[in-house]
Amino acid sequence: MARITGSDSSPRVAAELCDPLINRGTGFSADDRRTRQLEGLLPPRVESLVEQAARVLSNLRDQHNPLDKYSYLSALRDENETLFYHVVLDNLEEMLPIIYTPTVGEACTQWSRIYERPRGLYISAFAHRGRVAEVLENWPRPQASVIVVTDGGRILGLGDLGANGMGIPIGKLSLYTACAGIAPEICLPIALDVGTDNASLRNDPLYLGERQARLTGAPYDEFIEEFVSAVQTVFPETILQFEDFNNASAFRLLDRYSNTLCCFNDDVQGTGAMGLAGLYSAGRITGQGLAEQRILFVGAGEANLGFARTVVAAMQHEGLSAAQSKARCLFMDSRGLVVTSRTDLPAWKSVFAQDRAHTTDTRTVIEDFAPTAIIGASGVGARFDEDMLSAMARINHRPIVFALSNPTSKAECTAEQAFAWTQGRVVFASGSPFPPVTYETQTYSPGQGNNFYVFPGVGLGLLLAGATQVSDEMFLAAAHALADCVSAADLEQGRLFPPAAGMRDVAVAVAAAVADVAHAQGYATRQPEQDLCAAAASYMYVPHYS
Ligand code: NAI
Repeated sequence: MARITGSDSSPRVAAELCDPLINRGTGFSADDRRTRQLEGLLPPRVESLVEQAARVLSNLRDQHNPLDKYSYLSALRDENETLFYHVVLDNLEEMLPIIYTPTVGEACTQWSRIYERPRGLYISAFAHRGRVAEVLENWPRPQASVIVVTDGGRILGLGDLGANGMGIPIGKLSLYTACAGIAPEICLPIALDVGTDNASLRNDPLYLGERQARLTGAPYDEFIEEFVSAVQTVFPETILQFEDFNNASAFRLLDRYSNTLCCFNDDVQGTGAMGLAGLYSAGRITGQGLAEQRILFVGAGEANLGFARTVVAAMQHEGLSAAQSKARCLFMDSRGLVVTSRTDLPAWKSVFAQDRAHTTDTRTVIEDFAPTAIIGASGVGARFDEDMLSAMARINHRPIVFALSNPTSKAECTAEQAFAWTQGRVVFASGSPFPPVTYETQTYSPGQGNNFYVFPGVGLGLLLAGATQVSDEMFLAAAHALADCVSAADLEQGRLFPPAAGMRDVAVAVAAAVADVAHAQGYATRQPEQDLCAAAASYMYVPHYS
């Protein structure tokens, strides 16, 4: 029997309540409700953004664990982006660890379980090959000025997470908006699904990605080529940020595309600028200039090689030769010291190989090389032990220790360990946040050393200049701009980077520096602004109901 329906059973769609970019929920005024036919669909009381935010914060703080908080905020973003960004921006210190690292790592591992609503584009190397441009055109917004793309190959320090890696582009772009004021409607997160070699994901009945082995070799490169040229056709002026690809792909793609389109790899170049800025700050505490540093990099992947490349470029600006600069950077990877006698080194690592005896013993390396700084980006939790850090403290009055690996479980050591094992003398930064540490009578709040201090401002600077390419000099300028934002009071608290609350000021400074270089190097297509800082600040999206 036919169901009894009204004469027209299709529902009227209250579009204003469905589109997160325009929805204001209880923030719609009485007039708006009348003219947009929303009366009755909302409770009577009209609320301000501040009143709505108070409810959000109270509900958020009632959530029992970080992943529930992440899901609660994601649902809010899918409902009302203005309110989401208002809450995030007003409480950056509290929100960053939820919407980004470390919680985003857990969100990615659980993506197939917590998934609720689509956001961004999933482009499959199996279902969409040959039609990638068509899929890009399905993006419902007219513009995509910044694209963050991952192939899920190396998500944080968690390895191959396939299509679950989507949490990273979404998280990074939230930071573009929160930290640099790039409007949410022009930000496009993309997960390229090239399959996964993660057997437990492929066997998980809830896994949402392709259940195929990860594409490699020529088929992989051809798919990326199709993707990049589709991006150039559909969104010709976009900035393309490669994120969390595994290192074999990351370096190759950077070499292949960095001279032909406006793209960069944040794990390599963003980390480099952040790390260099951290060393400049550390040098203000230890009293040593950059050219005096001797740096032991533990981990020789995208992050640390990007860091070292930037350090070498900066040391050369300070008068050292390329060889002298490289000699100040020594690497260890999963197979021990990176030395010239090794035959297993890819090209991007071998440029840093030194003529030394091979060893896998980090303590011996510390004694022989006498580093002023030890930088962990190995993706191996607890890689630094007491023996190593007390050796650092014996050699240096103020040893520099960065434990950059994310999420928190992968940090090479905790902040507490770093202070305890160096009798409180360490100059410390970590990729994921740790609580403040009290050593004897003094409390330190070392804060995070994370590339989120760099990429949002870089993106904003590239947009300001209408840049056609991204250069290493832009990242050097970004590092200087970031370092200049660190105050004496920050250093006194043991912080090498500014507090998260000042993130938009950092983005303004970084953006102005990057745009300036774009103009100087001839990569800008827009007229130079008289006052780049003012231009950057006025460009920023501010979440409010107009
Ligand atoms: P990657 O996979 O490119 O490199 C990892 C490197 O660590 C490889 O050279 C590997 O041989 C080495 N390694 C593995 N086990 C080791 C061990 N026991 N001892 C010494 N080296 C070892 O990864 P990538 O992109 O360099 O990232 C590494 C870590 O750094 C990740 O946890 C990532 O989340 C973190 N990272 C942090 C950033 C920040 O802003 N704080 C930015 C980018 C990455």
